[in-house]
Amino acid sequence: MLQVTSRPENTCQTARLSTWQISMAGSIPHAFIEDLLARIDIVDVIEPRLKLKKTGQNYQALCPFHNEKTPSFSVNQVKQFYYCFGCQASGDALKFLMEHDRMEFVQAVESLASMAGMEVPRETTNESSQRQEKRKSLYEVLQNVCTYYKTQLREHEHRSRAADYLKGRGLSGEIARDFAIGFAPDGWDNVYRKLAVTNADRQLLIDSGMLVEKEEEDKVYDRFRNRIMFPIRDRKGRVIAFGGRVLGDDKPKYLNSPETQIFHKSRELYGLHEAMRASRRIERVLVVEGYMDVIALAQHGVKNAVATLGTATSREHLERLYRLVPEIVFCFDGDDAGQKAAWKALQEALPLMKDGLSAKFLFLPQGEDPDSMIRQEGNSRFISRVDSAQHLPQFFFQDLSGQVELDSMEGKAKLSKLAMPLIGAIPEGVFKQLMIDELAKLTGLAADRLVNVATPKERARPFQQKTPAPPQRQRESTQLSLADSAIALLFRQPELVHECSDGEYEQLQALEDENCTLLLELVRKIQLDSGISAVMLLSQQQDGPHFDKLRGLAERDHLLQPGDLPAEYKGIIQKLLSQIKIQDFQQLKRRIDQTSMADLSPEERQKIQDAINSRKHIKSE
Ligand code: CTP
Ligand code: MN
Repeated sequence: MLQVTSRPENTCQTARLSTWQISMAGSIPHAFIEDLLARIDIVDVIEPRLKLKKTGQNYQALCPFHNEKTPSFSVNQVKQFYYCFGCQASGDALKFLMEHDRMEFVQAVESLASMAGMEVPRETTNESSQRQEKRKSLYEVLQNVCTYYKTQLREHEHRSRAADYLKGRGLSGEIARDFAIGFAPDGWDNVYRKLAVTNADRQLLIDSGMLVEKEEEDKVYDRFRNRIMFPIRDRKGRVIAFGGRVLGDDKPKYLNSPETQIFHKSRELYGLHEAMRASRRIERVLVVEGYMDVIALAQHGVKNAVATLGTATSREHLERLYRLVPEIVFCFDGDDAGQKAAWKALQEALPLMKDGLSAKFLFLPQGEDPDSMIRQEGNSRFISRVDSAQHLPQFFFQDLSGQVELDSMEGKAKLSKLAMPLIGAIPEGVFKQLMIDELAKLTGLAADRLVNVATPKERARPFQQKTPAPPQRQRESTQLSLADSAIALLFRQPELVHECSDGEYEQLQALEDENCTLLLELVRKIQLDSGISAVMLLSQQQDGPHFDKLRGLAERDHLLQPGDLPAEYKGIIQKLLSQIKIQDFQQLKRRIDQTSMADLSPEERQKIQDAINSRKHIKSE
């Protein structure tokens, strides 16, 4: 990747991931890790291990986590994280050490601490047991809240509104019990008055997200009011959070607990505990979007559905599920947003697709969700939809093929360029081989040629003693030719092409210069495929004779601000245009040397005069 300016969405989990790792380690205080990560520089950690090149704000390298020829691994120094556009590996310095050097968490912390000259403090057993106590109390308080909401559904004077709503959505009392559905009555202080008996209770209710503290005043109020309450349970069945739905059409329709010490959205799946409890062995899990989807499916006998909690499906979600079942079926709406979400889920799934695991994609008719669908058509027709869902390879190649024109050579090449980095992320095995074979079939390219691209030459190396740092990167100081500078700018921002007119590019064809020919070739490519990214542009050249040179240009460090690029680019093209005049002049001069002025036609004489004039002009500039 050549330019990384915005932080990709899924790297936002980095911080949370570390928090989770910390809780696993237990004895290293959280605050210390944060302090440590703030003090060290991720570039110092990665630099001795990968060959980093600076590109604009970021650094880039060949990704160590999958095999590739062009760098798509980038390190953002400002935000202190890495991200691979090819395999989506991402994280902070700590995660990098764990994944790249295969370190355990504690070992990685120690290694970073020694870089920073810090001593790793250990929580005394006393402190750590205090933290454990705290977690225990959070589970307890949430269980009490859950019981309170359930009771309200049976006993509150307005209980019939809630019960009618649930009935209206087709839910039986039995299902409401299985999912421990409850009712938060209207009012600002029901939970507070009922459950905050002591100051300690009050604090726990705040920490678990059930009470919201009013700023400034020392006041609190209930987070959930007049809502149907869905407790979110962890795998062991402990209540860790709630989702609440309004009874009518008010907004927001759903309200969820905030992230807390015991609730991490990107990790938890609604309904997982219930699904595991419903059956001893489940062979597959359905991943759906909403609480009500999970519950309605269960009501109709499909008890193996789980939902993400208002977030996209994360790598962590999938890792958890694949530890439990060999097959995941993703259910999405048939519209564009559904397709996009499915593609995102696919990308998260690829690195996990070890042989024996499978992923399928079910697209429902537009406007339907699993809840509405199963209520309409019942269990067996819904199950047969699930059975005939698209397998991952089917969805994969169908989606990518839709982006290219497969009956042209160019389209086939483009398909392989799009597919290979993704296939490269799949773990070695038969499944990966099948994907490569399929790609070979579609593109007519020999599978063994594709394999070279997709097979990691070296897996992440085992931890080595710190290798000596490579010599300081040298800033390329050689002066570029005009055409090469223009190419470098186009790689930074392909849209710059539109700064000059077709007429101007046409004139440039007269310039007898290899670099300029290459420039015009790129200009045409960008014009034909507006919106093409720099990476695509470069990867199209992968097999061409100029690849190395172009890659060098693409990676050049520009000191220009984005706002200055158009003027710079236009200026270069203008200079190239004036070179045509010089070239003309030189050709005429050669003619004169060979013949004599008298033999020249009047037009040629005029041309010489013009050339002399413009040359003076150029020189004086
Ligand atoms: N969601 C959320 N916050 C919102 C809207 C949605 O957390 N403001 C999450 C909830 O988990 C919800 C899921 O996204 O279950 C899907 O939302 P949506 O499709 O809008 O609702 P449905 O599940 O269809 O809800 P319902 O059928 O109850 O109307
Ligand atoms: Mn719905």
